[in-house]
Amino acid sequence: MTSTSHESAVPGCGKPSKSGLARVGFSTGFGVLAATLGSAVGLGNIWKFPYLTGANGGAGFLLVYVLATLLVGLPVMMAEISLGRVGKANPISTLQALAPKGQPWWLIGAAGMLGAFLILSFYSEVVAWVFAYVVKAMRGSILSSDPKVTEAAFGALISDPMQSLLWQWGVLVFIGGILLMGVTKGIEAITKRLMPILLLLLVLLCAVSLSLDKALDGLVFLFQPDFSKITASVVLTAMGLAFFKLSIGMGTMMTYGSYFRDDQNIPLTTVRVMAADLCISMLAGIAIFPAVFTFGFEPTAGPALVFITIPAVFSQIPMGQGLMVVFFVLASIAATGAMLSLMEVPVVILHERVGLSRPKATLLTIALLVVLGSASALSNSTLAEFKLFGLTPFDVADFVSSNIILPIGGIFIALFVGWAWGLDKFSQAMSNQGQLHNQQLIRAVFFLLRYVSPALILIVMLKGLKLF
Ligand code: PFF
Repeated sequence: MTSTSHESAVPGCGKPSKSGLARVGFSTGFGVLAATLGSAVGLGNIWKFPYLTGANGGAGFLLVYVLATLLVGLPVMMAEISLGRVGKANPISTLQALAPKGQPWWLIGAAGMLGAFLILSFYSEVVAWVFAYVVKAMRGSILSSDPKVTEAAFGALISDPMQSLLWQWGVLVFIGGILLMGVTKGIEAITKRLMPILLLLLVLLCAVSLSLDKALDGLVFLFQPDFSKITASVVLTAMGLAFFKLSIGMGTMMTYGSYFRDDQNIPLTTVRVMAADLCISMLAGIAIFPAVFTFGFEPTAGPALVFITIPAVFSQIPMGQGLMVVFFVLASIAATGAMLSLMEVPVVILHERVGLSRPKATLLTIALLVVLGSASALSNSTLAEFKLFGLTPFDVADFVSSNIILPIGGIFIALFVGWAWGLDKFSQAMSNQGQLHNQQLIRAVFFLLRYVSPALILIVMLKGLKLF
């Protein structure tokens, strides 16, 4: 939802970073929580969580996703933020500064930058669909509970190469403009105020969805696990979602950690972010699946699921069209914030490591994304036949980033803290130099990072990718 950057913070409360550049941090405890939550909450909740839950059998997937979040996601998030706060720099410089001499742990930061580009290449297209839906919702052409109508409307958008490209370029220019004009602070302020309205709308959608005929079928699908559906590839997808949702495994949270105040309680903040993020995904699930079953949509519809189902729910509400416009406007704002947070990784690395000014780093990032992103934008039209392992370029970017790059990043971040950085330093960071009395928790998290998380991620990846 929201993002952070140098512009977003209160000037004057910064301190010199290890790279020698002046950095400024979040000014208040609430600001820290809101911005971290802002990176986690985005289209991952509204779009990715429902479509993956639908495509992977429902409740069983949800169960594994929650377990992966607790056993792997939360410890890695704590590790990243702790490293970032101590390093006070971009992920490459942080890892270089904190690693024992001569060990190339900084490669995690470099891989993270590639991960950010890959995610942005398809995320920008989904944001493009959300933007386009604001206009479609205004025209009213998609407000229907007939799957044929809503599917045709979505199909018309994604199968048109010009529309797909132009909306994506529009998104990239818009985001680039926000960064170049240095108005991220304003966007953050707007986001913080408007997100409660999105939350209220989601609650309203849940209430409407729960009143539908076959609401119970939707709830059973979402909450009653069918264990036979939990295959190795389902487990890998659920774990990948946990990484994607919490924005971990590629340096975003490390970058955010570098803006954290020294007295911020890292364990408490991460647990709150994780819990709130999970609640918002649940609300999206409860809003969508009862409607899926009532109106005869396919839960396995894939990335289209939300775009074809949400109009059906709004079609059941008085003033549904107006409210749907509001919904997609708010979703656009949430998506914009998540994109700004993703862009922070390459922009800060190009700025602090390569020495480009922030505007130049921003322009270069946007230019690269126009090229890279077009493969995702054209995946359902010009490049529809161009498949790798049976997947379109969009699906490849989505799959490879969440299920390969982020988990590998997670393994190395866990190994770095568990074996190279060590318990003492981790404990100092997590307890605010001993001011918080949370030693038992720290030991438990450290144990997970040293042994459990890396082993679990590796096994899940090898099994899920059928390499073992
Ligand atoms: N967590 C965001 C979402 O769920 O929409 C997406 C995201 C943002 C992923 C930042 C990774 C990241 F670094």
